[in-house]
Amino acid sequence: MEELDSLLKEDRVFKPSSEFSRSARLQTFEDYKKLYQSAQQNPQNFWEKEAKDLHWFKPWKKVLTWDPPDAQWFIGGKTNISYNCLDRHLKTKAQKPAILWEGEPGDTKTFSFKELHEEVSRFSEVLKNLGFKKGDRVIIYMPMIPELAIAMLSCARIGLVHSVIFGGFSSSAIEDRLQDSKARLIITADGGYRRGKIVPLKDNVDQAIQKTPFVEKVIVYQRTKAPIKWNPLKDLWWHELMSKAKKGVDAIPLDSEDPLFILYTSGTTGKPKGVVHTTGGYIVGAHTTAKYIFDLKEEDIYWCTADIGWVTGHTYVVYGILSNGATTFMYEGAPDFPHKGRFWDIIDRYKITIFYTSPTAIRAFIQWGDDIPKKYRLSSLRLLGTVGEPINPQAWMWYHTLIGKEKCPIVDTWWQTETGTILISPIPGAIPTKPGSATLPFPGILADVVDQYGNPLPPNKGGFLVIKYPWPAMLRTIYGDHERYKKQYWSNFKGIYWTGDEARKDEDGYFWIMGRSDDVIKVSGHRLGSSEIESALVSHPSVAEAAVVAIPHEIKGQGIVAFVTLKGNILSSKELENELKQHVVTQIGALARPEHIRFAKQLPKTRSGKIMRRLLRQIASEGKVTGDTTTLEDISVVQTLSSQDEE
Ligand code: WTA
Repeated sequence: MEELDSLLKEDRVFKPSSEFSRSARLQTFEDYKKLYQSAQQNPQNFWEKEAKDLHWFKPWKKVLTWDPPDAQWFIGGKTNISYNCLDRHLKTKAQKPAILWEGEPGDTKTFSFKELHEEVSRFSEVLKNLGFKKGDRVIIYMPMIPELAIAMLSCARIGLVHSVIFGGFSSSAIEDRLQDSKARLIITADGGYRRGKIVPLKDNVDQAIQKTPFVEKVIVYQRTKAPIKWNPLKDLWWHELMSKAKKGVDAIPLDSEDPLFILYTSGTTGKPKGVVHTTGGYIVGAHTTAKYIFDLKEEDIYWCTADIGWVTGHTYVVYGILSNGATTFMYEGAPDFPHKGRFWDIIDRYKITIFYTSPTAIRAFIQWGDDIPKKYRLSSLRLLGTVGEPINPQAWMWYHTLIGKEKCPIVDTWWQTETGTILISPIPGAIPTKPGSATLPFPGILADVVDQYGNPLPPNKGGFLVIKYPWPAMLRTIYGDHERYKKQYWSNFKGIYWTGDEARKDEDGYFWIMGRSDDVIKVSGHRLGSSEIESALVSHPSVAEAAVVAIPHEIKGQGIVAFVTLKGNILSSKELENELKQHVVTQIGALARPEHIRFAKQLPKTRSGKIMRRLLRQIASEGKVTGDTTTLEDISVVQTLSSQDEE
């Protein structure tokens, strides 16, 4: 475990300003500690009290049944997340903006809660009239437009299980997810704007459904008017369907444990796994964490820059924000289009008060230069957040100084697709922050750092981050593969959730996330499995074997280096290198493009045949084997040197 000892020493502590604390939900560190301790003694009480904030068609009979690793929350309760995000607010907030949106070309749209409610009930009617029923899976593959949120809320309204796919993924990624989910319906658009270009979403769908005949319908939202191919047997225009839906439909009472969505995410091995979230527990978690961590107020204009294709967009662009009746701002495009001040310009124009983004974005802003944000006032901001990867203290300080003007608390929020909601984060107004630390667990969350036997570690000893008690928004299973769920998250220590992250707690109990203990790679905060990229490479006819590892990358956080052995007497070349990079892009998407491809005669392996990734990682990041990357490297030499300390 020695290597896990952290070298990082960061002593700065930032207390929330009295001005912020005075109007915050929790106002002192004592407030937090009291709430945490009472929730620790009885987590069910804490969550039950919070659940009462929401609308239930029928109350639950029991808060939790826990038969590790299977949890059920609010058993017997009936609710609907679309109702909680929309109908519940109509009495008091009908005219308040629910969604403010700006497209990349500069076009804008606003939906009040009343208007959003109307659109969602009518689109639910469309889905119902097409014959889709509770439990059916629906793939949503759209740009960042309000209709993406409308599609999700409409599915949720009538019990359809949505699975949103990030618009940057390729057609084969869609095909994989279709094969796994057996969705009969896809909702997409004729395209979306990204850096001035049109992303051909519909073309990608057309390709993906060549081999998935079970897809019956493709609903197409007209965003760009770009020419697309049209299949009259399957394709339907969103606007034509909507023009016939007049009445709208009510939200149906769903069982608390009815599935709400499947979100595919990368793991260590095999294909992406379909993380399944259910209705009642998820909305209680999303609602409660958003309320406390973003300290949402009636007048806030909240902006989370994440794409809805990732879990952050599900929980903190759509569900957790709308359920609190807050205004969520959405932006379609790139941060540097048509200029590198686009985000700051948006903040000033829309008077954004809460801004939630990723360390990757912050690192890019830093590289673009301080003079860019300095041109803007940014005076509407009162709270900042980050998510997705560890933020290094320098980037934190930059964010604090240049964007927050030293007056906005920063919430560094730790969580995962699987956890559904934030589990470790400052509660602004109450918890003093330290640059680089996600600080303390949310009330009701029993987080700890343990050694390989599951024993809690003393302060500042690095170990495995685990969660020792179930929480409402936790995943329930991996779609179609409950065994994988058990093995992946619950097999290391009985009844204890395995996060896959390494961390340490300092002498104040603050958590410092140190990275992953497995081969999950985070490129620009987006989660990719090394095995997916390897499978993509091996699917190329010239490749015999491939191993990919992450290297530190100044902006993306991590970049990908692929070690490749070629078949038979195929020779390596610059052309082949480029072809392989492009092949990965076609198979997965642009964000998986390797930074470097290194051809090797053979890959270093342990005696039992396991690829020695640690060694490759070292070679890749320290460049031990340097020189022309297109020539074959004989890594077997290093293999003998290092094999002693493996296994
Ligand atoms: C990493 C994103 C450090 C972590 C919501 C986790 C973080 C993985 C943080 C989940 C943070 C997320 N500090 N690391 N604040 N937030 N991570 O599923 O390794 O895309 O396990 O969910 O991101 O990534 P996912």
